[in-house]
Formats: sequence, structure tokens, C-alpha cells
Amino acid sequence: MNPIRVGLLGLGTVGGGTVEVLRRNREEIARRAGREIVVTMATARDLSKPRTVALEGIELVADPARIVASPGIDIVVELIGGETRAKELVLAAIASGKHVVTANKALLAKHGNEIFAAAHAKGVMVAFEAAVAGGIPIIKAIREGLSANRIEYLMGIINGTCNYILSEMRDKGLAFDVVLAEAQRLGYAEADPSFDIDGIDAAHKLTILSAIAFGIPMQFDKAYTEGIGKLTAADIRYAEGLGYRIKLLGIARRAARGIELRVHPTLVPARRILANVEGVMNAVLVKGDAVGHTLFYGRGAGAEATASAVVADLVDVTRMATADPEHRVPHLAFQPDRLSDAPILPMEEVETAYYLRLRALDRPGVLADVTRICADRAISIDAIFQKEAGEGEEQVDVVILTHVARERDVNAAIRAIEALPTIPAPVVRIRLEELL
Ligand code: NDP
Ligand code: HSE
Repeated sequence: MNPIRVGLLGLGTVGGGTVEVLRRNREEIARRAGREIVVTMATARDLSKPRTVALEGIELVADPARIVASPGIDIVVELIGGETRAKELVLAAIASGKHVVTANKALLAKHGNEIFAAAHAKGVMVAFEAAVAGGIPIIKAIREGLSANRIEYLMGIINGTCNYILSEMRDKGLAFDVVLAEAQRLGYAEADPSFDIDGIDAAHKLTILSAIAFGIPMQFDKAYTEGIGKLTAADIRYAEGLGYRIKLLGIARRAARGIELRVHPTLVPARRILANVEGVMNAVLVKGDAVGHTLFYGRGAGAEATASAVVADLVDVTRMATADPEHRVPHLAFQPDRLSDAPILPMEEVETAYYLRLRALDRPGVLADVTRICADRAISIDAIFQKEAGEGEEQVDVVILTHVARERDVNAAIRAIEALPTIPAPVVRIRLEELL
């Protein structure tokens, strides 16, 4: 059988990794796919830039539109990133009847509904395993392996850069900027690393996961997103002292009145597996009603780990290319005319536990005021700790751990606490999940 011909848009970290893995495992991949998979055309912004991978046999073209329109290409692999040009190229590839493989979570989280509708209408596949959690086959696991289940929730570490930064800062005491620069050098970070740091990349991935887990449309604009930029060394240290680690978690959960969709730093008990996922590794915990808990772990970013997912998609698309489109696995796991309209809950409606840190004047009655404010708003306190005041200091740190409470009530309590004359600084609030 003739090889399947791939046009590669982008020769950066993931594009380079994809060329290398396809070359190195060429025979093994052909034995799996039933045909050889060969990159015949590729593009990048600057074709004169030296590349670390061998590009023999690949026609390099300056204009990506040539690849997308070429009758000699069967599958377009989009690895340039961003939304605008990538969207034009993906839609053009679909319009010309080509299958698409992409690692671009920003594109899918924001324009996936339109892209999948176009692909469905045209009878082509858009595969996106690499868009979530790097090399972990989490899309296939949820979409196919867990398809018997009503998914109750999923939560996990889905940004390698942030996890790498938090691990390196905690273990080696390195400064934030130093570790971020290393994550960029290793090819983990997004082109604009604020997407990582601000939790946006994790929210893109969570949006995709929520769609395939619950059968809802992509609703990135309704995801609550908070990054790691405001975490302080003091909070990381206090959390450790209390037996917790702080992780950037993405959480999607069915609640009574809708679906929680949130990304934020989270205290996790140090004895839980998720708390011990370090460096660039990702892990996703999925709870299905039949299977119970399942946990998926692996490298969340980097050239070859991500290429592993891109090439797996290429194999899948190659195998299914001649199948009747109606008999393929639906892009988002559920049949497109059977999506649910379950609402995404506003963050104020979410219920979780909290770590609160207050800076308080070291005077009698301050803690009584604070606990009364919490009690008045039905916030039950699990533990309260007052740190020793330093020599000659009039202010102390007070850390409160709450039981599960509603975010709206906690926000109201924080406002009331900050209005006390004995509380001279804003309250730090970090959410807490006890997990399994
Ligand atoms: P890089 O920045 O390393 O590579 C991007 C590539 O696209 C470069 O070769 C660049 O050209 C090319 N490019 C950019 N814009 C254009 C354009 N307008 N026209 C033609 N070529 C263009 O990015 P990554 O490989 O890291 O990421 C690619 C995608 O994969 C992104 O969507 C990212 O979110 C996603 N991803 C990345 C992971 C990772 O670990 N890095 C993991 C999972 C997903 P040039 O080389 O000349 O600059
Ligand atoms: N910047 C992303 C991360 C790449 O660090 O997780 C993988 O999607």
C-alpha cells in the first residue's frame, strides 16, 4: 500500500520531535498503521534556521497554504501554535478534504466547536491527543477506554511548566524566573509563557477534557482561571508544615446544579499521589461511576513525549482513513447531536475547602472576631494556627484551614475579615482538595 503523506506545519519543539520519532520508529509504526507514514512537505517561519532533526526527503515550503492545498498531502499536522493563522490553516485543510492532527489546545478550546462541526460536515478527522497532558493518552482513555462510565469528575496536573517551576522552587530553592527560563530552554513553555503561569494553558486543556468527559461543548470562556504567579514562598512553606503541597490543578466536576470548571493553585495532602507528581510530569485522576478511580501519569511536555501523542494520532487517522465517517469515534466522544446543555457553574457557586492566611495584629480578641465572621457565614473551621511573632513584631501570620464551604460565603468572609482594623493586609486564599 502507498505511504500516507503528511504535511507538517511547524518545525519547532513538537514538529522536530515528530519528524525524529517518525524516522526512528518508521518500521514499527508502519507495522501498526498498515502503511508507512511519511512527512513529504513541511514549513516553518524561517526556513534558513538550523534544525536539530534531519529533513532529507522533505520538501520545505515557505507558504503553509501550499501544504494545506496540496493534492499530494493526506494529513496536515498543525504544530505552529496560536489561534489566528492556525485556525485559517486548519479550516482550509478541512475544506480541502484533509485530515488534521493538532497539538494546539488554545485553538481547540476557543474554536473547537466550529472546527469539529466543519470536520464532521466534510467527513474528515481532527485528532488532538497531544493537546492535553503531552504524552499521556488521556483523550483516548476518556473518549474510548472509559466510554461505559458516567464520569463524575476529573482533576489533575495538566501544565508541565508550572509543575516544573513549583517542584524546582520547593526542592532546590531556586527563584521563579530562573526555573521559568530553564523550562523555556527545555521546550516546555508556551511561546508566551504567561499562558502557562496564568493557568490559561491548563484551562484550555481542562476545557477539552470537560467536553469529552461530560459531552458538553467547549466553553473556555466560562472556565475559572487562576495561575501560580501570586504564590509566595511563605505559603508554600506553611502548606508543607501542615502536611500539604501546592499544585496547579485543573478540576472538572459534576455538581448538583452544573459543572465545575476551574484551574487554580490547590493544597493537596502530601501523602496523595498527585502531590508527588514532580517536575514536568502530569497526572490526571478520573472518577467514573463504574470503574471508580483511574490515574494517568506521564510527561506533560517536551519534544518526544508530545511527538508520541502526535504520531499515535497519525497512526489512528491512517487506520481509520478509509472507514465510513459515521462509524468513526466521534471527535468529542459523544455524538455531536447529543451534547448536553448542563451549565458551567460560576466560581461563586463552587464548594471546596480553603487555606486562608491573614496578617493580624497580635492582640487579644482578633481570632475571636475572625472565627465569628466565619461562623456567621456557615464556614466551618478545620484548624487554625498562629505563627510565632518575631522579636519586636506586632503582626503575626494566622493560617486557617476550612471544611468544604461555598466560594461566595468565603469571599464574603474574606471581605469582612479584611475590613477589621486588626487585619492590616489582604487575606491570602488558596483552595484545598483532600482528594481520595
Ligand atoms: P515552537 O515555538 O517550538 O514551534 C513552532 C513552529 O511553528 C516553529 O517551527 C515556527 O517556525 C513555526 N511557525 C510559527 N508560526 C508560523 C507561521 N505563521 N507560519 C509557519 N510556521 C510558523 O512551538 P512548540 O513546538 O512548542 O508548540 C507547537 C504547538 O504544540 C503549540 O500549539 C503548543 O501549544 C503545542 N504543544 C507544545 C508542547 C511542548 O511541550 N512544547 C506540548 C503539547 C502541545 P520557526 O521555527 O521558523 O520559528
Ligand atoms: N506549555 C505546556 C506545558 C506544553 O507546560 O504543559 C504542554 O502542553
